[in-house]
Amino acid sequence: MKILGIETSCDETAAAVVQDGREILSNLIASQVDIHSRYGGIVPEVASRQHLLTTIPIIQQAMAQAQALWSDLDAIAVTIGPGLAGSLLVGVNIAKAIALAQGLPLLGINHLEGHIYANWLIHSGRYDPEKPAGFFSDELRRDITKRTVRKKAPDLPAICLIVSGGHTDLLLMRGHGDYLPLGRTRDDAAGEAFDKVARILGLGYPGGPAIEQTANDGNSALYRLPRAWLKDTDDFSFSGLKTATLRLVTDLSKERKKGLPLERTTPRLEDTQSEVETHLEKSEKADIAASFQEAVVDVLVTKTVAAAKRLGAHQILLGGGVASNRLLRHTMAERSPIPVLLPSPILCTDNAAMIASCGYFHLKAGKISGWDLDVMPNLRLT
Ligand code: KG4
Ligand code: ZN
Repeated sequence: MKILGIETSCDETAAAVVQDGREILSNLIASQVDIHSRYGGIVPEVASRQHLLTTIPIIQQAMAQAQALWSDLDAIAVTIGPGLAGSLLVGVNIAKAIALAQGLPLLGINHLEGHIYANWLIHSGRYDPEKPAGFFSDELRRDITKRTVRKKAPDLPAICLIVSGGHTDLLLMRGHGDYLPLGRTRDDAAGEAFDKVARILGLGYPGGPAIEQTANDGNSALYRLPRAWLKDTDDFSFSGLKTATLRLVTDLSKERKKGLPLERTTPRLEDTQSEVETHLEKSEKADIAASFQEAVVDVLVTKTVAAAKRLGAHQILLGGGVASNRLLRHTMAERSPIPVLLPSPILCTDNAAMIASCGYFHLKAGKISGWDLDVMPNLRLT
C-alpha cells in the first residue's frame, strides 16, 4: 500500500511516498530556512507564500523519485495541525484536490503523532537518509543505492518524547492511536529554548543546530545552570534555564564592558544578535552553549527514563527536531535500561514520510477524513 504524505505546517515544504507505513520510497524536503534566517525567525506570510510556490513541484518530484504513478497510490495523508494556519491551508487544499481528482481517501494527520511515527520508518534502496534531497539542490535527482535496513517495528507500550520547536510532550503509547498523556512543558518548548538561547548568544536561526555545533568546543562543566525538576510530575519547564543563561551572559558582558553605561552592556531577549556578539569571547559562548545543552538534555533524559521505568514501557521512542541532537541521543541511549529508538536526524526534523507512515495506520483503522477537513493550528495530541 503506497501513501503520499504532504507536510506544510511550518517552514518546510515536504512530500514523501511511503509503502506499508514503513518503507520510504521518497522523502523530499524544501527548507525555507535561508529565507527566514534573514529575519531571525519564521515570518508566517512568507512561509505560506513559499509553500504555495513549492508544494506541487515537490510532490511531483516525490512521485517521480518513488517511481509511482497516481494510480499506484492508496491514499493522501496531510498535516492538519498544529502549525501556522496559512501554511497548513496550502498543504490541506492541495491534498484535497489530489484526493478528489484521483478518487483517493484523504487522511488528516496530527503533526505530533507524525513525529512519533518517524520511528516506524525504514530506509529503502532508493532513499539515502544522509542525503536529504533539498528542492533546490541537484542531490535529489541522484538515485543513491543503499541497502535496505530492516528494522523491527517499535514494541509497545512505549514512552514517547516529542521535542520540537513548539512542543515538549511525554506520553505513553499503548497502541496505534492510543496515547496516555504524562507531561508537557509548562512554558517554553525544548526547541524554543534552544532557539532563544542561540539568539542570546548571537548564533542565529535555527538555534538548535547552532547551539549543538558551538557546544562541541565548549566545557559543559564550567557553568552550572539550573534544572527544573518539577518533582512528582512528568512536566517540564525551560524558561528558568533560559533566564539563568541570559543572566550569565549579562554578567559576563558587564565584565567585558566595565565603564560603559549599563544599558549598553545588558543584553535582552529582543536585542539584535550583534549587540550581544561583540561582548563575548568565542570560547565563552562555547562554554555557555555546552552548559545549556547539558542542562536541557539532563532534564529530558532523567524524566523520560523515570517514566519508562515507572510504567514498565518496553521502549523509548524519540521524535521532533531536538531529537536530532547528538548529546540527547547519546545520553538517552546510555542512561536508559530499555531500548531507545532514534529516527535518523532527517526523520526527526519536519518531513512528510512520518505523515505518510501515520496515515497508513489511520487508513488501516478506518480513520478517513471528510471533504470538510479543516486545519487545526492549535491541535494537541491528547
Ligand atoms: O520538529 P521540528 O523540525 O519543527 C517543529 O515541529 O517545531 O523542530 C524544530 C526545532 C527547532 O526549535 C530547532 O532549533 C530544534 O528543533 N532543533 C534542534 C536540533 N536540530 C533542530 N535542537 C537541538 N539540537 C539540534 N541538533
Ligand atoms: Zn515538527
